[in-house]
Amino acid sequence: MESSSDTFGKDDSADAKLQESRVVTEEEWLQKWETNNIGFHNEQGHPLADMGHQVVGVEISESALKDFFTEQKLSFSEEPIPGIPGKLLKSTTGNISLYCCSIFDFTSTITGKFDAIWDRGSLVAVNPCDRERYSQLILSLMDSRCHCLLATCLYDPSKHKGPPFYVPDSEVKRLFGKSCDITCLEKVDGLAERPKKWGLDYFWEVLYMLVLK
Ligand SMILES: C[S@@+](CC[C@H](N)C(=O)[O-])C[C@H]1O[C@@H](n2cnc3c(N)ncnc32)[C@H](O)[C@@H]1O
Repeated sequence: MESSSDTFGKDDSADAKLQESRVVTEEEWLQKWETNNIGFHNEQGHPLADMGHQVVGVEISESALKDFFTEQKLSFSEEPIPGIPGKLLKSTTGNISLYCCSIFDFTSTITGKFDAIWDRGSLVAVNPCDRERYSQLILSLMDSRCHCLLATCLYDPSKHKGPPFYVPDSEVKRLFGKSCDITCLEKVDGLAERPKKWGLDYFWEVLYMLVLK
């Protein structure tokens, strides 16, 4: 685990302000999927369901969800989601339920609470003005034993407007620190081709574990 003092522990409030008014609309996200502007996408997927878990996902783009089932060679059924706009796409194997709806319409009434949550590309994609609402939602979805893995990134926000948005350690503490014990599990150099194209000269991928106090 890397724990240099260059990006942790410094006063990052001025940096955070650079992106605070940036808004990416749901239509813009749908457009990214339509135009295949999805450098964040991992075509191989992650082997969660293969490890025996019941997996639930939430995503606004229906084509993204359908592509997932096609890529994974899984058949699925569709049904409405009671009480909110959108639909549920469920693998016929029954262990993967993908909700096509806005995350901000999603509640624990729909699925109950979770014993594990993996936030990959979610908090860093949420508009900075919606982070408080998002963190309250995540907290409301955590059952008392829940382990939440949270992936964030650190870079110079004067060089890239996001997404992914810059989410410093202080922001993770502000959003989750009152309710959760927060452990930084790793901080790795993620300066690959994509962040370099954005003009960045450093890009840290940071992984936290959150557990309710
Ligand atoms: C950075 S991508 C990460 C996707 C996925 N979690 C992954 O790791 O590859 C952010 C995703 O959030 C979706 N999204 C944006 N706004 C949303 C919303 N309000 N509700 C649900 N999904 C949304 C986008 O369509 C996009 O696929």
